[in-house]
Amino acid sequence: VVLAVAGADPLQAPPADWVRAVGLDPVDHPAPPADPDELVLWFQDGPLALGFCRDGPRRAHHLDFDRDAPTDRASTALLCRAVGLGRGVRTVIDATAGFGRDSLALAAAGADVTMIERHPILAAMLRDALARATDSRGLRLVVADARDHLESLRHDAAAAPDAIYLDPMYPERGKSALPRGAAQLLRALHDQKEPNDPLAADVDLLRTARAIARRRVVVKRPPRAPALVEGQTIAVMRGSRARYDIYAPSPRDTASGPWLEHT
Ligand SMILES: C[S@@+](CC[C@H](N)C(=O)[O-])C[C@H]1O[C@@H](n2cnc3c(N)ncnc32)[C@H](O)[C@@H]1O
Repeated sequence: VVLAVAGADPLQAPPADWVRAVGLDPVDHPAPPADPDELVLWFQDGPLALGFCRDGPRRAHHLDFDRDAPTDRASTALLCRAVGLGRGVRTVIDATAGFGRDSLALAAAGADVTMIERHPILAAMLRDALARATDSRGLRLVVADARDHLESLRHDAAAAPDAIYLDPMYPERGKSALPRGAAQLLRALHDQKEPNDPLAADVDLLRTARAIARRRVVVKRPPRAPALVEGQTIAVMRGSRARYDIYAPSPRDTASGPWLEHT
């Protein structure tokens, strides 16, 4: 990913420590790169925007939490039902926030949502969107690897969410529930640094999530993909573009877990 300043006004160049924090190399005079297939993070007088060089800054993708509210009512309703909103679930950790669309849908439906994102560029875009939102609607952001963050909640009963939602990168190149442009960008961003065995990492994340969530863990999958862990779902909800596999929390180690009731 290359950083560019729209308009190439050096006065608008972001500070070097910010650039390093986002995981990019500081550049002396940011300018649009020449390779049309290069991913570019546009830093301009407006929201941070990510796009392919060939599309230019105006067609780059940015997040706008005031306007990105989900429009597909049926798939939003399915997501909310899968997560258990209105059925005892109010606090949700979206452990794979990405562009934050699912988080936004859940927050708009009344959930108190913590987004976790580990990719520095996506995290920067989410932080930028939160700062610009006129109403951040119970959304907050944690920039971390979700496994580490969830592990840190093991001994903090008050911080354990009712539900944890996982939408890992689809390993398959086929259908995604995200709009095409956004899905392509996520894919291009992650092609650069996938863990060695993404499936094993997702299974591990699911295991940790089940040890933390109070009521359920929900995993979004492509409609026909196998479950992350076969034979352990307690319910499955199917939509045309995604399937939600629901897992129960794992049995608590009551001797040491946060669920030990203190009297
Ligand atoms: C398919 S995208 C999620 C899309 C999201 N549901 C949305 O509505 O925009 C998956 C995201 O999860 C992030 N991710 C995957 N594993 C993670 C982990 N262990 N910790 C934090 N983020 C993770 C990836 O960086 C990627 O941005």
